[in-house]
Amino acid sequence: MSPFALTRTLPADATAAALRADVATGLTRTPKELPPKWFYDARGSELFDEITRLPEYYPTRAEREIIIARADEIAAATRARTLVELGSGSSDKTRHLIRALASLDHYVPVDVSESALTGAAGGLLADHPELTVHALVADFQYGLHLPATPAPRLLAFLGGTIGNLRPQERSAFFAAVRAELAPGDALLLGADLVKDERTLVRAYDDAAGVTAAFNKNVLTVINRELEADFDPDDFDHVALWDPRQEWIEMRLRARAALVAKIPALDLAVNFAAGEELRTEISAKFREEGVRAELATAGLETTHWWTDEEGRFALSLSVPAAG
Ligand code: SAH
Ligand code: AVI
Repeated sequence: MSPFALTRTLPADATAAALRADVATGLTRTPKELPPKWFYDARGSELFDEITRLPEYYPTRAEREIIIARADEIAAATRARTLVELGSGSSDKTRHLIRALASLDHYVPVDVSESALTGAAGGLLADHPELTVHALVADFQYGLHLPATPAPRLLAFLGGTIGNLRPQERSAFFAAVRAELAPGDALLLGADLVKDERTLVRAYDDAAGVTAAFNKNVLTVINRELEADFDPDDFDHVALWDPRQEWIEMRLRARAALVAKIPALDLAVNFAAGEELRTEISAKFREEGVRAELATAGLETTHWWTDEEGRFALSLSVPAAG
């Protein structure tokens, strides 16, 4: 196999078909809602990388701190030959893991953003000529079709992206992950932890307005892909903490009543003044909840690490015995 392969698990137009379906359903229901994966075209992936460098956005720094501190322990516990990473983005923090995993020969980054995958692969291949990189443009929520690569495999899901799935989606996701893991394989999961409201809201409503631009980028994606006429300036970025659900909600709030035309769907969408479109949830977790959800899926948590300040957690789990 050549050291780099990029595979699409779906025909190129399937993404467009999925976007059409999600927009048609999500913008005609009450309340209006879209899945967060549509943020991540090339510009959205760039904006997310910018978010990770913001002073207010602590999760990336906290997770990087844990990965650096624990990379050798993770390597010793897993002895992975294959690292599969779901929602890999820039693969930036992953480099610390790759360096520590002495037995690693295959890296399989999986992402909906092709630009993120190709952007990450160049640097990785230059730094690790020994590595075979098999990038997969795929939706990690719908049928993982991973290439046959050597065991043991470590499946990583970093960044707290698990929090962008609703509770029911999370349990389906963990069950699908469990089904992928054979004895000897492991799951490395990054989860952002519940903390004070002010810190959380600031992380999703930064002073420089980068998260607002990221949120509004979904409208630009719909404009480009479905010939719609949304004006992002007609909307305000909203980030709220829901203490009952223990999640942040990002929304776009219409500044005034408006009608958006989406010719590719033969649709006109009415927004009342102040009406909101929910674009993302970002759930925050507690140790007992993560362990319980993993256990329900048949995964036993063997390690639980946090950063010094206790803001973020990384856990390692394995298929439960029996
Ligand atoms: N893991 C990286 C990136 C997190 S951003 C980090 O920790 O910094 C979330 C990433 O998941 C983005 O690159 C986005 O394109 C990808 N993503 C979001 N939803 C996805 C889905 N349903 N399937 C595959 N990738 C997805
Ligand atoms: C990718 N995911 C974990 C980010 C989060 O924090 O929920 C996406 C994001 N949304 C706004 N800022 C960052």
